[in-house]
Amino acid sequence: MIKSYSVRHINVSPGLVLSPMSGVTTRPFRRLIKEYNPGAVGLLVSEFVSVEGMTRGSRRTLEMMRFSEEERPYCVQIFGYDVDRMRDAALMVQDIGADMVDINCGCPAPKVVKRGGGCELMRQPDHLRQIIREVRRAVSIPLTLKIRAGWDESSRNAIDVAKMAESEGIEALAIHGRTRAQLYRGLADWSLVKEVAEHLSIPVLGSGDVIDGATAEERLQGKVAGLFIGRASIWNPLVFREIVSGERDTLRNNHAKMLEMLFRYVDLLREDFHDSSCAGKLKQLASQMCRGAIWRKPLLTLNTLAEQIDLLRRVRDGAFLPSQESLEQEREATDEGIAA
Ligand SMILES: Cc1cc2nc3c(=O)[nH]c(=O)nc-3n(C[C@H](O)[C@H](O)[C@H](O)COP(=O)(O)O)c2cc1C
Repeated sequence: MIKSYSVRHINVSPGLVLSPMSGVTTRPFRRLIKEYNPGAVGLLVSEFVSVEGMTRGSRRTLEMMRFSEEERPYCVQIFGYDVDRMRDAALMVQDIGADMVDINCGCPAPKVVKRGGGCELMRQPDHLRQIIREVRRAVSIPLTLKIRAGWDESSRNAIDVAKMAESEGIEALAIHGRTRAQLYRGLADWSLVKEVAEHLSIPVLGSGDVIDGATAEERLQGKVAGLFIGRASIWNPLVFREIVSGERDTLRNNHAKMLEMLFRYVDLLREDFHDSSCAGKLKQLASQMCRGAIWRKPLLTLNTLAEQIDLLRRVRDGAFLPSQESLEQEREATDEGIAA
């Protein structure tokens, strides 16, 4: 049984959160995840949204915040440096009716940290305090924070930052147990997540390498209130329901299910994006989700959505039946790739 947690009146039940992923957790992806994991996703978070773009009125940036009612509870994550823009952007999140606003202090990307945002804020705790104070004063919806272990090995200041954030009114905190210097290398440090949870009274969520029921159970220990799940949701979009139900590998070799999900994803994508963007996003999901499928590689070579849909239809109609031998070869190659 996966525990739940509450942020004020918002019950995150179960305590499994779709982790924000830039370029991935768009509205279509979030809706797909929610639909295919009924009752198993406690909270959806947008991809991070630039406060610069928001407060300058960039249409594309503003569109990144949009959501559907069925996504609730829904959180928008913002990133930036300027205190006034952070406050104004948080107010915009509140105005569109989101349930929570989250401040990104974990992004390692050079283009973000060079401008003072993301993980750079962990190196400037006094400035971060100012941001939190100003945003806290402005918005009435719950305010949360996502951090990393620290900037690098010599500055692992997550506990200090987390305590400061709580004292300034942050209401839940997620920590990705890697430093900025680690990027996505090595394993996330879950002993640190547990330690941070011990020090705080607000819900503390962990992020990093939760991929199935076993890893979820291992990490949801002690005072850790919930789990953020990122990359595993692309490899296996059914991961939430599998964690909750205790089932395993329900998508592996289930081509009918993969196809059904891809067709649904196309419909959802088309509501938000032009076909040219949909094609790239479809490939992004298929390349991870359809490992082991003989039609995966041919699909990934196609650049238009029309061609992709045509191929998926032919697969569905059985025109693409692989031999058992080629299936085994593809599976072995994929397993080796994953192991590497
Ligand atoms: C492609 C990609 C984009 C990401 N974008 C964001 C983001 O916008 N905001 C954020 O807080 N974390 C972002 N992350 C970090 C994830 O939310 C998560 O903390 C990290 O991937 C570790 O969890 P995982 O092992 O479950 O993927 C991103 C990660 C990936 C792989």
